[in-house]
Amino acid sequence: MTQFKDLVFSGMQPTHSLHLGNYLGAMVNWVRMQDTHACIYCVVDLHAITMPQDPKALARNIREVAAAYIACGIDPQRSILFNQSRVHQHAELAWVFNCVARMGWMSRMTQFKEKAGKDRENASVGLFVYPTLMAADILLYRATAVPVGEDQKQHLELTRDIAQKFNNDFADTIAEAGFGEAFFPLPEPMIQGPATRVMSLRDGTKKMSKSDPSDYSRINLTDDADAIAQKVRKAKTDPEPLPSEAAGLSGRPEADNLVGIYAALKDVSRDAVLAEFGGANFSTFKAALVDVAVEKVAPITAEMRRLTADPGHIDAILASGAEKASVMAEETMKAVKEIVGFARA
Ligand code: TRP
Repeated sequence: MTQFKDLVFSGMQPTHSLHLGNYLGAMVNWVRMQDTHACIYCVVDLHAITMPQDPKALARNIREVAAAYIACGIDPQRSILFNQSRVHQHAELAWVFNCVARMGWMSRMTQFKEKAGKDRENASVGLFVYPTLMAADILLYRATAVPVGEDQKQHLELTRDIAQKFNNDFADTIAEAGFGEAFFPLPEPMIQGPATRVMSLRDGTKKMSKSDPSDYSRINLTDDADAIAQKVRKAKTDPEPLPSEAAGLSGRPEADNLVGIYAALKDVSRDAVLAEFGGANFSTFKAALVDVAVEKVAPITAEMRRLTADPGHIDAILASGAEKASVMAEETMKAVKEIVGFARA
């Protein structure tokens, strides 16, 4: 697949404000990737409405998530940053993919089953076809690498299946249009591993999540220093002092999580953290953790505040990103229309 240029695409839904799990698990990685790859980062608002949204809150969240991307270090000069609904070709390509993907494939998607719950008859049709829209997001730019969490692996496999079936089904017209053997690349997931997985502060066996009813389970990027200090102080622990090596954290999910967060914030290993804090009790360690967390999160929070105070500025950044994305998207859609056999003007 040497014909495809290296290109990274990823996105997050604007259904909530971001938390430390999003930052350490995904965003840090996205920011780094800007040094080595062309990157497109999207606020996937079309995906957000697969579940009911309050329109005013949605509009606010789109800007807030865009502000969080920028505050964390996504540079809109270097990378393309936009919200999905501004580039109509996402929906257009998703329709073509709805006609490529098979009912059987879609019915196996575990995230749909989880999100729809027991009342499947009442789930939106959009929720069911969510993964074809995700495939369209990625393949519209013919992206080759997609940094995502473990939970999105199945959607990436589906994306590859769709790309492959499209390439096979339309092999003749793809060749005639001069694209050789394959029009779409088979994008590779870059799975963000357990080393960067941040767990709930209330339960070290559950992922830190926006949907946890307890706000004490997570550190939000909008939390101020006091809130961070309180949440860390209340974080669940066990009665033992810290071990002196990472191996000693096994079977101690809460200790492992707090040490892991500290290590990720400092960009060092768990062993390095424990070389310093081995034998210490949690009150000592938590005080140090509050310091590094505040040191890292406070500037992000401040920058997000500055940015969200001027919604017009964020909108201008998103509009300019969308303009760049549209040029690439239109080029793909033009080819797709020719390949599929739609008459052109
Ligand atoms: N489904 C992804 C999630 O919930 C978000 C998403 C939508 C995405 N489109 C994408 C991620 C394209 C990567 C690439 O996390």
